[in-house]
Amino acid sequence: MRKNKSIRSLVRETELSTSDLIYPLFVVPGVEVKEEIPSMPDNYHFSLDLLLEEVAELVDLGIEGVLLFGIPKSKDEIGSRAWAKDGIVQQACRKIKDEFPELLVITDVCLCQYTSHGHCGIIEDGYVQNDATLDNLAKIALSHIEAGADMVAPSDMMDGRIQAIRTKLDQSGYQDKAIMAYSAKYASSFYGPFRDAAHSAPEEGDRSSYQMDPANSEEAMREISLDLKEGADIVMVKPALPYLDIIRRASDQFNAPLAAYNVSGEYAMIKAAAKEGWLDEEETALESLLSIKRAGAEIIITYWAKKVAKLIQ
Ligand code: PBG
Repeated sequence: MRKNKSIRSLVRETELSTSDLIYPLFVVPGVEVKEEIPSMPDNYHFSLDLLLEEVAELVDLGIEGVLLFGIPKSKDEIGSRAWAKDGIVQQACRKIKDEFPELLVITDVCLCQYTSHGHCGIIEDGYVQNDATLDNLAKIALSHIEAGADMVAPSDMMDGRIQAIRTKLDQSGYQDKAIMAYSAKYASSFYGPFRDAAHSAPEEGDRSSYQMDPANSEEAMREISLDLKEGADIVMVKPALPYLDIIRRASDQFNAPLAAYNVSGEYAMIKAAAKEGWLDEEETALESLLSIKRAGAEIIITYWAKKVAKLIQ
């Protein structure tokens, strides 16, 4: 059954397709900025004026969704630039939607890029204040949707934020806008390159009082189940490769669209090894994404999206 190409493709169980992929984009203030992110080669910081060129290329390649991250020009204690009408992500949503109304625009909803302390919520007594943060998260989500986003993706890991966001969107007339919940998001070292890219590393401490303990699997099922009850339309496991078991469990246990985030560190590892000549970049990238899909994710958020779209075209 493995003798030649045609028989192998006849019995192949999993197929990767461009429509499975979502490409993250980093938007920064300024003009004429297209700067490569050192720890994530081939991924860039774009200013608003150059963003559309990149998006046009993605659309041409058949990529159907992007996930937007903003790097604001200023930060404060509560992260108020995150819900500003003229904030960086809000402007990017308007620009992209004007030009490419068909492209699915998803926005990351979090505070860590916007707070001076770099944590994902309001800090008091050295701890993130879960309930006090919910209203701000809902405000961010609404501001993105008002700017034209199709879907919001809360990545903060506060309890109850899906319900807070769903209620806010519904009350504002946006019953038809979707939520992709970062449900099982682990406190992972694999986010290192992203935190360089987004300038969002916590000044003090780490995120283990709100992100999940890598040792836990049952808890991931509880988190996903809660998010679905609160109104999540898509649930996510993050990171992907070190958590394929969680993806598989989630896909067996829940009847909901499942996304996996192939995070910055997973990407950087392959890039670094390939640069040394120790791994074949394209083969390894394709195999990684295929394994995430085989584990049960229907949607993969990945920095490889553009490259892989070219490869499988
Ligand atoms: C924001 C956020 C992070 C990532 C996505 N959204 C960083 C974090 O939680 O520290 C990580 C993405 C990646 O590593 O590619 N909270």
